[in-house]
Amino acid sequence: MSQIALTERQRREREYYDTYAKYNSPSSNSIDMSPVYALTEGGEKRPWNSYWAIYDFAWNHYSEGKALLDFGSGPGENALRFATIGYRVEGFDISEENVRIANKLFENKDCFGSFRCATAESLPYKDESFELIFGVDILHHVDIPKAMAECHRLLRPGGKAFFREPVDAPLFDWLRNTRIVRAVFPKDVSLENHITEDERKLDSSDEEVMESKFSNIKKHHYLLFARFDKFYREGADPNPSNLEKLDYFLIKRLPLLKKFCGVVIYELTK
Ligand SMILES: C[S@@+](CC[C@H](N)C(=O)[O-])C[C@H]1O[C@@H](n2cnc3c(N)ncnc32)[C@H](O)[C@@H]1O
Repeated sequence: MSQIALTERQRREREYYDTYAKYNSPSSNSIDMSPVYALTEGGEKRPWNSYWAIYDFAWNHYSEGKALLDFGSGPGENALRFATIGYRVEGFDISEENVRIANKLFENKDCFGSFRCATAESLPYKDESFELIFGVDILHHVDIPKAMAECHRLLRPGGKAFFREPVDAPLFDWLRNTRIVRAVFPKDVSLENHITEDERKLDSSDEEVMESKFSNIKKHHYLLFARFDKFYREGADPNPSNLEKLDYFLIKRLPLLKKFCGVVIYELTK
């Protein structure tokens, strides 16, 4: 990996996440497995939460021996949950530090999984290697046309990819970027808030790229009023959010609200 020529953007992302990983690496015992235990052990499910819903999709598509690629696997927490469902997991990330942490995590947990350092734009796997690809908060960091081409190449015919991503909601984003709101709630590049200089929300041009590659695209919407959770809930609050539940209820009944949502899980079928 160190020999691969990185673009300036990739270099900045790697530097940022290598630093982030040094200070925030999860310890194997601190990883919250409840989104998966809700499925495997019949606990409380949270279909209204996009981070939990990802595992519902993984659970519904599981069959023994299936290979899953975690696209931009970070430090391996999501991959560990996929492995707990039963998948043979592979993952990649541009950050060498994240890849080291993910491999170590799987070694400590005695799970099957392997992680490589690679870029989403040019991946070291053979064509049609995977039946399923999952990505969490990754596409908005990468060159989407190139990453989508790789994702399509790696999927077997009929295979599916799921990506959980923040998306542009024009009205909210316009308000968010007005001078007054920015002055009260600044949004700077920061390790603390996990915002890199190059990330950006997905918009209709990114969806056109997906449409040009995949035969079928389904969108699952989240985050309407739950945007306001950040003003009164701790980031790590383990309790369910009432606003997320309200969003789930409203979006189902009033589909027009989808265009105001801030998160989409894209379900792409090859
Ligand atoms: C917000 S984190 C999400 C990580 C992981 N999916 C998770 O949910 O914990 C974004 C990840 O994208 C990785 N990344 C950024 N640009 C990349 C690229 N061009 N190719 C591969 N990984 C990249 C970063 O190193 C980082 O781990």
